[in-house]
Amino acid sequence: MALRVCSLVAGAARYQPCLSVVQGRASSWWSHVEMGPPDPILGVTEAFKRDSNPKKMNLGVGAYRDDNGKPYVLSSVRKAEGILASKNLDKEYLPIGGLAEFAKASAQLALGENSEVIQSGRYITVQTISGTGSLRVGANFLQRFYKYSRDVYLPKPSWGNHTPIFRDAGMEIKGYRYYEPKTCGFDFAGALDDISKIPEQSIILFHACAHNPTGVDPRQEQWKELAALVKSRRLFPFFDMAYQGFASGDTDRDAWAVRYFIQEGINLVLSQSYAKNMGLYGERVGAFTVVCSDSDEAKRVESQLKILIRPMYSNPPLNGARIAASILTQSELRKEWLQEVKGMANRIISMREQLVSNLKKEGSIHNWQHISDQIGMFCFTGLRPEQVEKLIKEYSVYMTKDGRISVAGVTSGNVGYLAHAIHQVTK
Ligand SMILES: Cc1ncc(COP(=O)(O)O)c(C=O)c1O
Repeated sequence: MALRVCSLVAGAARYQPCLSVVQGRASSWWSHVEMGPPDPILGVTEAFKRDSNPKKMNLGVGAYRDDNGKPYVLSSVRKAEGILASKNLDKEYLPIGGLAEFAKASAQLALGENSEVIQSGRYITVQTISGTGSLRVGANFLQRFYKYSRDVYLPKPSWGNHTPIFRDAGMEIKGYRYYEPKTCGFDFAGALDDISKIPEQSIILFHACAHNPTGVDPRQEQWKELAALVKSRRLFPFFDMAYQGFASGDTDRDAWAVRYFIQEGINLVLSQSYAKNMGLYGERVGAFTVVCSDSDEAKRVESQLKILIRPMYSNPPLNGARIAASILTQSELRKEWLQEVKGMANRIISMREQLVSNLKKEGSIHNWQHISDQIGMFCFTGLRPEQVEKLIKEYSVYMTKDGRISVAGVTSGNVGYLAHAIHQVTK
C-alpha cells in the first residue's frame, strides 16, 4: 500500500496515512472475501476435542493409531532417524526433483525391483510433498502437457481432496460409478458401463489399493477387465497409491494393479505417499512417476517437471526423504519396516472382524459383512447421516457425515463400545 507524505513536522518528513487511505482500510482489500466452509474432516476433530465424554472416539481422521489409541512412530523410522542423526549430515537444498536415492527406491517399491520400466530407464520419478503434492504436480503436468483432454474421471465417491486438486490445476472433474450402496461394495457393472462411455483419451483416476473413502477395491480379475477397457478406450490412467502395504499388509500385492496395467503396455502416471505406510504424515514424503515410452522421452518429461516444480516450491523437504530412503535401501531396516506395515494392516483387519462379531453379540440383525470385506484404513459403514448424527450426539462417536470410519481409530478397548453405539442407532 503506497502511503503519501501528508504532513511535515519539524522539517522532517513524517509518513502518516492520509484520510483516503484510512477510509480505504475501513472498506479493506478483502471485504469481499466470504467465510469458507470448514474442512469436513478437520471439523470432526474440532468437535471431538470439545467433547468431554471419556468414552469419546474420533473415527474421522485417517491416521493410524496403535491398540492404545496412540499415534504410532514405527521402530524402523526411529532407527533410521538415529542412524541419520549420527552422521551429522548437512542441510543443503535438495535438487528440484528431490533425493535421487529416494526417488529410485520409491519407483522400485511401486513397480517392482525387476520392472522392465526401471531396467530400461523409461520413467521419471520425482520426490514430492507427500501424496497431495504428488497429485498436484501430476495435475499441473497434465494441464500443461496432456493435449488430448481436460477431463479427469474420478470414482464416485473419491477422496475429497481429489476434486479441488485437479480443479485448481485447471482440469475438469467428471466421474464414473464405483460404490454400490445396496451392497456396500464395488459397483463393477456400473463402473464398466460408465467407463465404456468415457470419451477416448480422457484421464481416469484409480486408487491403486485401499480406496478412500469406501475401503472397496476391485478384485484382480476385475482389474484385468478395467485395464482392457482402459486400453480399448485409449484412456489415460492416473494411479493414486497412498496406502501401499496398508491394504493387504504386502507391498507387492497392493501394487498389483499398477504393475498389471504397465505389463499390459499402458503407460500411466503414479502418485505415492509415505504418510500412512511409514507413518511419516507430517514429514511430507511422496513421489510422482511418469512411465514413458523410452528413456529419451523420460528425460524430456523430467526437464519439464523441474520447470513446473521450481516456481511452486523450488525443491522438496530433505528430512523425511532421507528417512524413507534409508528404510527402503538398507536391508535390515526394510525388513523391519515390511513387518511393521504388516502389523498395522493386520491390526486393522482384526478390528474389522471384532467390530462385526461385537455387532452380532449386541444382537444386530443387519448384515455387516461389508465391514470385514472392505480393506485398508477406511470403512464405509452404510450408516445414514441421521444415524451418524445420533452417534455423535448421544455416544460421542465422531465420523464424517457419509458414515466413513477410520478403522485405525478402533482398538480392543473401544470396539465393544463402538459396536454397542452402532447397534443402538441402527436397531
Ligand atoms: C486417496 C488418497 N490420496 C492421497 C492422499 C494424500 O495424503 P498425503 O498428502 O498426506 O500423503 C490421501 C490421504 O489421506 C488419500 O487418502
